[in-house]
Amino acid sequence: MKTRITEMLGIEHPIVQAGMSWASSSAALPATVSNEGGLGVIAAGPMYVEAFKGVLDEMSALTSKPFAVNIPLYRPQVDDILNVMYEHRVPVIIASQGGPKAHLPRFREYGAKWIHVVSTLEHALKAEAAGVDALVVVGAEAGGHPPVSGVSTLVTVRQVLREVSIPVIAGGGVADGWGIAALLALGADAVQLGTRFLVTPEATVHAAYKEAVLNARAADAVLVGRRSLPVRALNNAFTEAIFDAEQRDVSKEEYEALFKKSTLKQAALDGDVAWGKVEAGQSAGLVKTLEPAGELMRTLVRELEDACGRMEAMARRTALA
Ligand SMILES: Cc1cc2nc3c(=O)[nH]c(=O)nc-3n(C[C@H](O)[C@H](O)[C@H](O)COP(=O)(O)O)c2cc1C
Repeated sequence: MKTRITEMLGIEHPIVQAGMSWASSSAALPATVSNEGGLGVIAAGPMYVEAFKGVLDEMSALTSKPFAVNIPLYRPQVDDILNVMYEHRVPVIIASQGGPKAHLPRFREYGAKWIHVVSTLEHALKAEAAGVDALVVVGAEAGGHPPVSGVSTLVTVRQVLREVSIPVIAGGGVADGWGIAALLALGADAVQLGTRFLVTPEATVHAAYKEAVLNARAADAVLVGRRSLPVRALNNAFTEAIFDAEQRDVSKEEYEALFKKSTLKQAALDGDVAWGKVEAGQSAGLVKTLEPAGELMRTLVRELEDACGRMEAMARRTALA
């Protein structure tokens, strides 16, 4: 399948494994996805420089295909990570939270593509004006930090596509090839999946985390922390404590302390799925099996082809089974 994104990045399928802190802060998952013709994404957000260099070295050994590094621009020591990315000639950068303008010129020197993550039309327009090559656009269903407005993927992505001319990778709420086809039909040039790739042996999160995602219903992925930096995570003792604090209308200090005491790392590395932030999207309700990432990629491609075949048959006005 050819789209503006597959052409721009030199990948075979319009499928992106979303950058996920801890889960893809390692080489196995991104390398497997890239080797299968998708775009694997290393999440550099929580990584120290030395560990990051090690993962880039591992990537060179595991794949010769294009891959990306996801970096939130607000994090401390972001310049150190960007310097390593520049030295290693990382081919695709997927940045979030912060302005891209200052960083673009030197990455353009060697032909890197800069993709910016946004969840509103306003930020999409700003990123396009700053000169980025493409956008990742996610709606409210997404795991991690979705738009606080609650505007769905279907509406957010369509809004952006009507107004921008650069290619769009859409995501939030997609767990199979049928969802990928839906967002491509909407006009997206590729689709990114996060939660679905969490439940693979290659994702570097604790087994208890994967089990929690497998057992979750869609409605269990709640938006928590409305008075802080809201996150979509699975309902547990931590989210209940936050909702309770909101009901009791506790002070800002007490609220922040409670919210920050719980971390994604606690759930992802220690397996504390009761009190950690078990970040996952509503698509958790569609994830029923743990599947090796390579096999998953092949399943996604097969389902995408089936979904497209169904649409083609509809266009030819053939009766559907
Ligand atoms: C566990 C987890 C960690 C995430 N970490 C990051 C991150 O470090 N940087 C980022 O830009 N997005 C992050 N996200 C958001 C994903 O990149 C992606 O937008 C989201 O998972 C898409 O929604 P889905 O989970 O329904 O597929 C994270 C999501 C999850 C589930």
